[in-house]
Amino acid sequence: MKTQLRSSRVVIIGTGAVGSTTAYTLLLRERVSELVLIDANKDKALGEALDMNHGLPFTGGVKLWAGDYSDCADADIIVIAAGASQRPGETRIDLLKRNAGIFDSIIQNIVKYNDHGIILVATNPVDILTYVSLKKSGFPSNRVIGSGTLLDSARFRYLIGQNKGINPRSIHAHIVGEHGDSELPLWSLANVAGIGLEFSDQDREDIFDSTKNAAYEIINAKGATSYAIALALDRIIVSILQDEGSVLNVSTLLNDYNGVSDVYLGVPSIVDRTGVRQVLDLELSDQELIQFQNSANKLKSEIANLEL
Ligand code: LAC
Repeated sequence: MKTQLRSSRVVIIGTGAVGSTTAYTLLLRERVSELVLIDANKDKALGEALDMNHGLPFTGGVKLWAGDYSDCADADIIVIAAGASQRPGETRIDLLKRNAGIFDSIIQNIVKYNDHGIILVATNPVDILTYVSLKKSGFPSNRVIGSGTLLDSARFRYLIGQNKGINPRSIHAHIVGEHGDSELPLWSLANVAGIGLEFSDQDREDIFDSTKNAAYEIINAKGATSYAIALALDRIIVSILQDEGSVLNVSTLLNDYNGVSDVYLGVPSIVDRTGVRQVLDLELSDQELIQFQNSANKLKSEIANLEL
């Protein structure tokens, strides 16, 4: 169903697997009126734009072009999907040095033209790079968001749905913390129609293991992930542009949250036209609280090594 939106512009920086698939997803679903692709490799951005524009007779009215940072001036949302992606066997944290290095110029170029939009980060390690984007942009934290554990929660919901024989759209379940190896499942909140879900210990282990390691499995098989992260970014973008106020596990700045401050983590957040309007308080068990704080401390120790 076509989503009728007021005039809106999304800029996507980085037209690799995630950025180009996100652009194509937004195009297919006609989410925006203007879509701008930026890449350090200008030919790549141009090629992606040409290829998608040639499909417009089959889709509908989106203005799409390969642009430059001056096109950020009128952007409602600027998606950052640029940088290296994991190679087989690499963790997301392993990408930090390479990708933090390019964020300096990316953020400087954005703020040269835009002081009002929302920055949505997908590049990994996404929680740390969203924190870097906050510090370097000077934007208020509500307007600097990471894709967070929305994708992990979607994987979790899918796997629980497979286990229970229920459509994943009817499964409500949360992965919180780092979008990465220290993320944690909130089994106590998993429910269908508000009815708690029971799992054997083995099922819990299998489901969470497959959730947490999904990216490694996909990268080993096809080299990169793209489709589900693109759909997750689409979900966040629509909640912003439609001022939905949907609760999404995006990466957001936490302060005095379950004993955690000054770090970005994926937690249930209300996402609307202002970006993250509010973070929802979570009732964590003692064990979940320890895992959550461990996740935060892991990222804070990496941030401490950065020059921000
Ligand atoms: C993944 C990448 C987006 O989890 O980190 O697929």
